[in-house]
Amino acid sequence: MQPSEEIKSRLDIVDVIREYIQLQPAGVNFRAKCPFHNEKTPSFVVSPEKQIYHCFGCGEGGDIFSFVMKMEGVNFVEVLRLLAPKAGVVLKKQNPEAASKRNKILDMLELSRRYYHKVFLEEVSARNAREYIKKRGLSADTIEEWQIGYSPDSWDVVGGLLRAKGYKENEIFVAGLIVKSSKNNKFYDRFRGRIMFPINDVNGNTVAFSARVSPEKEATEQMGKYINSPQTPVYDKSKILFGLDKAKQEIKKEDLAIVVEGQMDVISAHQAGFKNVAASSGTALTTEQIQLLKRFSNNIALAFDMDAAGEMAAERGIREATRAEMNIKIIEVPNGKDPDDCIRGNPDDWVMAVKNAKPMMEYYFDKTFGKLDLSKVEDKREAAKILLPIIAKLKNVVEKDHWLKQLSNRIDVSESLLRESITTIKPHVERVYKEKSNEEKNKIQKQSREEKISEYLLALLLKFNSYLDYAINNLRVEQLFGWNNQEFYKSLIIYYNKVNNDSADIDLNIYKEWLKNVDNNNGTNVQIINQLKLLDKLVILVDEEFGGINEVGAKNEIINLALTLKRRYYLEKMKGVEKLIAEAEKHGDENKVKILMEDFKAFSEEVKELKK
Ligand code: UTP
Ligand code: MN
Repeated sequence: MQPSEEIKSRLDIVDVIREYIQLQPAGVNFRAKCPFHNEKTPSFVVSPEKQIYHCFGCGEGGDIFSFVMKMEGVNFVEVLRLLAPKAGVVLKKQNPEAASKRNKILDMLELSRRYYHKVFLEEVSARNAREYIKKRGLSADTIEEWQIGYSPDSWDVVGGLLRAKGYKENEIFVAGLIVKSSKNNKFYDRFRGRIMFPINDVNGNTVAFSARVSPEKEATEQMGKYINSPQTPVYDKSKILFGLDKAKQEIKKEDLAIVVEGQMDVISAHQAGFKNVAASSGTALTTEQIQLLKRFSNNIALAFDMDAAGEMAAERGIREATRAEMNIKIIEVPNGKDPDDCIRGNPDDWVMAVKNAKPMMEYYFDKTFGKLDLSKVEDKREAAKILLPIIAKLKNVVEKDHWLKQLSNRIDVSESLLRESITTIKPHVERVYKEKSNEEKNKIQKQSREEKISEYLLALLLKFNSYLDYAINNLRVEQLFGWNNQEFYKSLIIYYNKVNNDSADIDLNIYKEWLKNVDNNNGTNVQIINQLKLLDKLVILVDEEFGGINEVGAKNEIINLALTLKRRYYLEKMKGVEKLIAEAEKHGDENKVKILMEDFKAFSEEVKELKK
């Protein structure tokens, strides 16, 4: 099997797409709002049976690969590299010469990860690091699972290793693994003498590292406790959550994502069996991270250290999550510990803390009132000043109402007064979608009613092949509407006539292959691509529009649709002839008028005939 086929066979398109957008079951298929264009009602359909998707709004469609390519903005080879770990497929390493820039970086990061991990396990120089990690309670399995590593304390090991494998210095630099000295312009290893935590994307590809100072140097280290990979073509820290690749299934299952700050918090939690935990790596939650989590659950619980920085991080996170209409709770870890300390101390404390997580508004109220003395009028005013803008941001009216009442009770100010002042606060609205480009707008062309009917007919014929004979004998290619539909019908007829003799149903996969090879361009021809796209669309369309239709129902539909198309075809013809007649009359060409009148009569006879 080709690697691409193997990846495809091991992944389910529903699972893959679900990691980008929320899919709702709809009959045999799944539906969602299209991620490729802005829409209010979902017209994006995924077929698990056919392993394809199609958007009836903008016309985008295809398979797993085309979906991820489009979402991630990567090419075909890159998408294979991206999905391979998810499918458990080991790709043959591309040689550095031939690989794309992205894939080269991913390959270098993977090589480094393996190297650091091996050093951690085996080298004498990593002894302190090993002891430290053991002291922090991580088991051998955990070390293996999270691929914890150690970077030797030297200037040119990883650089040297990668150069020896054929990577160029500049490429290693772009991967963030070496840095350039400002003194002599020489490159040296970025990570030296540190405990290495590989940071993975949601599919499990290592895209960066977070490197913790080795304990013996913690007191004297100038560079900070952790240093991290810089922004690279494969790593944007605002779009990654540490551990999400290992947490996502559990997040979905528990319908709750717990977000902590540190790598050690995540690893510790997972080891103790709390696997719905990921980390923001010390920063406030970003919009992108929240969108990422939203693929798996609408519920987030934040467990940030509530020191000043943590509080700020939490507040930003709260704002972002409200905007995305997620339910957010705040976990208060007892005694100001971080989750790692808490879990190692007593896992039950953690379970309780999660259970007692406060809805974020409650948390905010408690926090605000905790600092104030409500017998003082200034403090009442202060409470309103802090809480009203937050209430104003709530999108859910019931919630908004509830918290307004609460505030009114607590500060003893009439609800209507508060409500009035809230309308003067403009919620900060951010545009989530980019303005559509003209190109995109043009793509969303309006389809005529006739074109739709033509598609319905083709869709039914694809599924109910036994009526192809009827169609071929009763409906000519030019009687379909839409050039693409006509071309499709033509190919279908040619193919059907070819395989007709054994009267077996058309196998769509074989038909697809045949279509690809119709000309020698091997499916690169635009027209063939359009036909393949239409094929996918029609396959889904028949489920969507004619769900449980049986043979008899299909027959009636096909006959009706064909009749409608023919009638419209002749009506169009009549309209055309009418124009020509008017023109001929203008020129006084009586002969021509006469001939045209004959045509007109013939066409109207046809229409009459069809109405019977
Ligand atoms: P913490 O200082 O809470 O680290 O920072 P920690 O996870 O508790 O570390 P240990 O327990 O001392 O090993 C939380 C997160 O902030 C980021 C790291 O991702 C860290 O996990 N951070 C922290 C940095 O990026 N740089 C720093 O210098 C410190
Ligand atoms: Mn810690």
